Amino acid sequence: MTVPSLDALLTSREGLRGQRVFLRADLNVPLKEGRVTDDTRIRAALPTLRRLLASGSRVVLASHLGRPRGRHRPELSLRPVAIRLAGLLGWGVSFCEATIGPEAERAAGELEDGQLLLLDNLRFHPGETANDPDFARALAALADAYVNDAFGTAHRAHASTEGIARLVPRRAAGDLLLGELRHLGVVREPERPLLCLLGGAKVSDKLAVLEALAPHADVLAIGGAMAYTFLRAEGKPTGRSLVEPDRVEDARRVLEAARAAGRTLLLPEDHVVAKDLEGGAAAEVVEEIPDDRMGVDIGPRTAARYGAEATRARTVFWNGPMGVFEIDAFSRGTRELARAVADSAATSVVGGGDSLAAVNQLGVADRIGHLSTGGGASLEYVQGLTLPGVAALEA
Ligand code: 3PG
Repeated sequence: MTVPSLDALLTSREGLRGQRVFLRADLNVPLKEGRVTDDTRIRAALPTLRRLLASGSRVVLASHLGRPRGRHRPELSLRPVAIRLAGLLGWGVSFCEATIGPEAERAAGELEDGQLLLLDNLRFHPGETANDPDFARALAALADAYVNDAFGTAHRAHASTEGIARLVPRRAAGDLLLGELRHLGVVREPERPLLCLLGGAKVSDKLAVLEALAPHADVLAIGGAMAYTFLRAEGKPTGRSLVEPDRVEDARRVLEAARAAGRTLLLPEDHVVAKDLEGGAAAEVVEEIPDDRMGVDIGPRTAARYGAEATRARTVFWNGPMGVFEIDAFSRGTRELARAVADSAATSVVGGGDSLAAVNQLGVADRIGHLSTGGGASLEYVQGLTLPGVAALEA
């Protein structure tokens, strides 16, 4: 079944002029002291928004922000997002502190063609994450049509991503969501060789994607602290590195799955180590991690090896940092890989906060095939899982 597109809605007989469209976006952006510190996700929502406004529809925009757990938390209000959005759009954005009920209905009812209303954080209401049918119905009451462009939240079966879609017959995926599915689809059905670079702190966070990609990727290269759990599984010394003892057996299974499928699973061959995680701690490069040191980054030989695989690959998927990226002295491996992926002629897809930050810091973002706005969602999609927010649009 194909996902209905915004084009289909816009060119349908009724069109969208004068219609109220509930647009679910992922505007979950970092805030500091009430200001947006990274507006990537707001910018990513602009193309669909602009098309809707230009079509003369009346847009009711909604998103979550953080995890307020069903309580009103003023510091997680979307008001600062409304301000940034208005600046980026060059268009008025009305803001409504309610998400459902008479106040939200009145604000949505007062919209004129080509006007935009942003509702406050959906997760202030416990019905959102519970996918409560009453809450979904109350959201659906605000709209004549539903557009989901929140790729970053498409792996959550929440009222505004799943429940509402089943209640509004006129529905579609926005341009961002469709673009993400198309680009990440290349990793599911890649031009080979496919290189998957996976980093991050914990095997437990990435186990499902490791299990799925080990037999799928031609080469799976592992970095970040989770590499030490894999090294332990291979019987290598890990010193004081972060190892998850209860995941060593899982790591062994992943190694075995890659081997059984005839795939290559690469682990770091050398390491940057330090006494502790302080920025000022002296860092050294070693081949074997000494007992009193912890691994904090992949070493230069490993970075060169992983980089060479990026050059050879036809498709590259990268998620997660190779070291403690937020500390400058331990960020080199991640930055070298960002450069190698950008230099590669492969179709490349990068997701996850730190990998994106590395790509942005180096100014190579425009040489990456696709920068995904979804962390967890992109990992679930490349595993071959069905995303509830997408399945509900198809239903
Ligand atoms: C994200 O930042 O990955 C998405 O906005 C989803 O957020 P969540 O993990 O809190 O559901």
